[in-house]
Amino acid sequence: MKKKIYITGCGGMLGEAFYLNFKDDYILRCTDRNVNEEWLSPLNIVDKGAYRKEVIQFNPDYLFHLAALANIEACTMNPERAYLVNTIAVETAVKIANELTIPILYISTAGIFDGTKSMQDDWEMPKPNNVYARSKYIGERYVVENAKRYFVFRAGWMMGGGPAKDKKFVQKLMLQLKQGAKELFIIDNQFGSITYTHDFAKNVKLLIEKKCFGLYNMANTGQTSRVEIAKELLKILGLEKEVKITIVDAGHFKNQYVLKRPHYESIENLKLNLLGLNIMRDWKVALREYIETYYTNYL
Ligand SMILES: NC(=O)c1ccc[n+]([C@@H]2O[C@H](COP(=O)([O-])OP(=O)(O)OC[C@H]3O[C@@H](n4cnc5c(N)ncnc54)[C@H](OP(=O)(O)O)[C@@H]3O)[C@@H](O)[C@H]2O)c1
Repeated sequence: MKKKIYITGCGGMLGEAFYLNFKDDYILRCTDRNVNEEWLSPLNIVDKGAYRKEVIQFNPDYLFHLAALANIEACTMNPERAYLVNTIAVETAVKIANELTIPILYISTAGIFDGTKSMQDDWEMPKPNNVYARSKYIGERYVVENAKRYFVFRAGWMMGGGPAKDKKFVQKLMLQLKQGAKELFIIDNQFGSITYTHDFAKNVKLLIEKKCFGLYNMANTGQTSRVEIAKELLKILGLEKEVKITIVDAGHFKNQYVLKRPHYESIENLKLNLLGLNIMRDWKVALREYIETYYTNYL
């Protein structure tokens, strides 16, 4: 018999990939505060009573808590909202999962490190240095310390969902190209790990099937940088000669991004590798597939 999964925040970038990768093998109830698909129904995770009632009624085998305020600037400007959504609602989720004696899945971030080390493995000590990172890290700690059974996966620079859902770097570049940009301004000293939502969902599925509970780094293979991603993107699109990349420092974007980003947001899937459970592909392979799948006829 198919198992049941209740998913919050499923209308976002990652949620779409979870829906597509799990829907054939599981019975899903997908929710979000923003109902942007016919397969979604409404739930605001801040409403404790509604969250509990909904999940208990559905009686799932797993609770996937994806919902979050994932915009770093929004979290900085409204810390109370950030802690309500990213931290306190996680406590609600853990209590519901424990009440039903089911595992909870929580998504953490490479941003919980202070970015001074060039690569962070699963056992590196987090040191969050902004409201978003702090709110997510406290959520992570709450799950690990209180959930009876849990999966915590730390993702890197997310990419997925295409023009409709992607709020991140690749879509920002694609939009500029669509608008006819012949020059892209890219920060030169930011390094990180790409996380393609579909690769992530597939690796999560594997861990669930194998019942390998625990906390894992999960990003595509190979450290990269903003500049390298932009170059690779232009190569995939065949625009290397037509579009110029101009390297700038963070000051160039000071009006857009108030907060200084860590130098390194790179994570290594050391634990998955040691367990023989790492199926995350090279980031360049994932980027090509992403562009070919989601952006045909976009430009
Ligand atoms: N994006 C990244 O680079 C990244 C990296 C590492 C980890 N993560 C984590 O991955 C998870 C999924 O994020 P994502 O990348 O898919 O971001 P996303 O596209 O913003 O998805 C998050 C979804 O949660 C929804 N949401 C926000 N507040 C809610 C609430 N109170 N109740 C119910 N739904 C709510 C959002 O709706 P609105 O759009 O209306 O806010 C959005 O649809 C999050 O836990 C995030 O922290 C993301």
